[in-house]
Amino acid sequence: MKRREFSTIAFLSFLTSLVTPRLKVNSQPASQTWRQYNSWKSDNIFLKGINAPVFYETDLNNLKVTGAIPSDLEGIYIRNGPNQLFKPVSYNYPLEGDGMLHAFYFEDSKVRYRNRWIWTRGLKYELHEGKVLPEFKFRNYANTNIFAHAGVILALYEAGLPYQITPKLETVGTWNFQGDIEQSMAAHPKLDPQTGELHFFRYSLINPPYLTYYVANRQGKIIRTMSIDLPQSALLHDMAITKNYVIFFHCPLVFEMSKAMKCNSPFVWKPEMGTKIILIHRHDLTRKPVRLDTDAFWLWHFMNAHEDNEQIVIDFVYYPQIKLESTLEAILATKAHLHRFTVNPDAKTIKSQPLDDRFVDLPTIDRRQTGRSYQFGYAPYIDLKLTAEKKIPNYYPEIIQYNVREQTSKVHRFKPGCYGGEAIFVPKKNGVSELDGYVMTLVFDENKQKSDLVILDPANFEDEPIARIHLPVRVPSGFHGNWIAKDALNFNGV
Ligand SMILES: [Fe+2]
Repeated sequence: MKRREFSTIAFLSFLTSLVTPRLKVNSQPASQTWRQYNSWKSDNIFLKGINAPVFYETDLNNLKVTGAIPSDLEGIYIRNGPNQLFKPVSYNYPLEGDGMLHAFYFEDSKVRYRNRWIWTRGLKYELHEGKVLPEFKFRNYANTNIFAHAGVILALYEAGLPYQITPKLETVGTWNFQGDIEQSMAAHPKLDPQTGELHFFRYSLINPPYLTYYVANRQGKIIRTMSIDLPQSALLHDMAITKNYVIFFHCPLVFEMSKAMKCNSPFVWKPEMGTKIILIHRHDLTRKPVRLDTDAFWLWHFMNAHEDNEQIVIDFVYYPQIKLESTLEAILATKAHLHRFTVNPDAKTIKSQPLDDRFVDLPTIDRRQTGRSYQFGYAPYIDLKLTAEKKIPNYYPEIIQYNVREQTSKVHRFKPGCYGGEAIFVPKKNGVSELDGYVMTLVFDENKQKSDLVILDPANFEDEPIARIHLPVRVPSGFHGNWIAKDALNFNGV
């Protein structure tokens, strides 16, 4: 961005921050507050049904609970996802949609809820204008993930700097690691539980280097950076780490400026390019990365990776192909499953093996096992029959608990009309094993048009939930969330 453009936008952002928005503010009983915005409806499959945005920011205290909140659950669960404020002319899911955070505060076996938009520069500008601005269509929506590191909470997006968020969900502004990153940070950093280091990357669509890898230390200071040569820019959504390696899959979902100019999805699938596996020696960045070529496939997310003697075991959700089109036809033509690559970096061989055949995504693990041998992972099941029936995507009727060591699985199926999302694992305070904790997911009940935060017991995964926290409102489908333990951040009085 040119300095003049930047200063104009920064000035307008400053002005918008001083403008009182034309909002109706309703005072509710002491335990509830609401700020209501103008609502609208859309026929777009990603803006209706479970995907329809909500048009308020609220605080709800003393939520009703079925079961009991475990007394050692103290912290905040925050989930991010797109929640478009103004009706768009066209909508490219999952790249668009103003980020909204939904937070559940656990304290003294009680739970409070708060939701807030992430007030990005683009959204503030649109609020000032009172409408969607087509020239801001491809921008940093901060809608993809939420992550705490070194005492800072970051709302992350595919491209663009993360937005710093307070525990109260106030938007502070963009975060650049004390000036050490300039352009952007992708949405899936990996925290090494052994070293406290945060590993992350950014990719560039226009100029090389097309991929840059960063490491921030426990204090949030950038300590290592590496540019990685790629033959062409492409969308890279996730990365994985092991004890000695950092792993990228460079899949052929390629950026085309001409499509972006027409406000279409700017990415094109080019299977003839194949997929490249890049292994970086994380403790010695002067060493040449190991590169392996495979047939084309796509992934959004890794489940985890670890080393087993000389081999690198990489578990991820494998898509034979991807079309980034926001149509029901494209959704119904898509399929993916949990898959394992066992890579020998010296011999440059890959053993490829499906771990399941059910369509899943949004995989999670006990994050204490990141980069290490692990046993359990979680993923919502994507039922294409249900998608075809509803003609709307993102209804997930069950969560699968994978035992990747024994290659078995268990299923927690929700009641009819109830649909979950990404499920996160929260360890018990002094828990050691991967079953010693809680699994949380937001569940939408379409009959009541309300959502519950459901807490499952990983050791009795198919059983009734330990607790169901009932919201009097609904939470739209979303992307990624995380648990922030109370001792990681001070949120007293939030
Ligand atoms: Fe993601």
